[in-house]
Amino acid sequence: MSQFFTEEDSVETVNARMGVEINPRLEKVMASLVRHLHAFVKDIHLTQSEWEIMIDFLTRTGQICTGERQEFILLSDTLGVSMLVDAINHHRPVGATENTVLGPFHVAGAPEREMGTTISSDGKGESCLFEGRVIDLHGNPVAGARLDVWSDNADGFYDVQQPDIQPKWNNRGVFTTGADGRYSFVGIKPVSYPIPHDGPVGTMLGALGRHPYRPAHMHFIVTAPEFEKVVTHTFVGDDSYITSDAVFGVKGTLLAPFERVNDGRTVWRSPFDFVLTRAIAGQHSAE
Ligand code: BEZ
Ligand code: FE
Repeated sequence: MSQFFTEEDSVETVNARMGVEINPRLEKVMASLVRHLHAFVKDIHLTQSEWEIMIDFLTRTGQICTGERQEFILLSDTLGVSMLVDAINHHRPVGATENTVLGPFHVAGAPEREMGTTISSDGKGESCLFEGRVIDLHGNPVAGARLDVWSDNADGFYDVQQPDIQPKWNNRGVFTTGADGRYSFVGIKPVSYPIPHDGPVGTMLGALGRHPYRPAHMHFIVTAPEFEKVVTHTFVGDDSYITSDAVFGVKGTLLAPFERVNDGRTVWRSPFDFVLTRAIAGQHSAE
């Protein structure tokens, strides 16, 4: 290896610059990152102007981030990285409820509501009863499970996207199961909506011939003492975007029935059971 930087030895030259007493995990992560980055540059023969476009893209991605907007996570979501990180870290047994992306619209501190009550307060949309059980892998009810739920409204916006239009906490709530593990609440049948696409990620999707839509879904974070936390959605299976979710969040096991009931109480009913796995000792399940 030459004393100086060469195209041939680029990876070894950069990685050899690391100190001897650095964090071993950091060393492994950075050595691999440099290896893959250099291989990528060589593979596509990155031009100088393409390098400038990439730098500009990342600069704009950072500049549009605020306390409320996280464009880097959106980039990770739209490149499938968020789902991949979740997948490799949550290998659950068959039958256990799978995770999907959290998304940017969860707000901690939603109102704790009585089982069976409504989360919708803007009077829009078709009402839907969401109900089922929180159980373990053996079918036993999980008491004291906390379901933190949220969805968009009938116009395809979360309350936090329209603070001057929607009531605060519209389509959000927290429910806690009793001894039978059952949950139920009234929301609306969710609708598909575009992820924020007025920034660099939206420009990227457009350039790639990709639409920004997510199929209709209800978000859930389910936690219970001694069980692994589940961050997931239930999806409306016949949504036209079900096979082209902009953030790759759909899993077959998360398609929920939406039955038209029109029973005088709600227009729709969506039954779904959440199956939790025991937390590995030492890991806690709380949010
Ligand atoms: C959401 O479902 O709220 C969401 C997920 C990922 C990116 C944008 C929105
Ligand atoms: Fe969502």
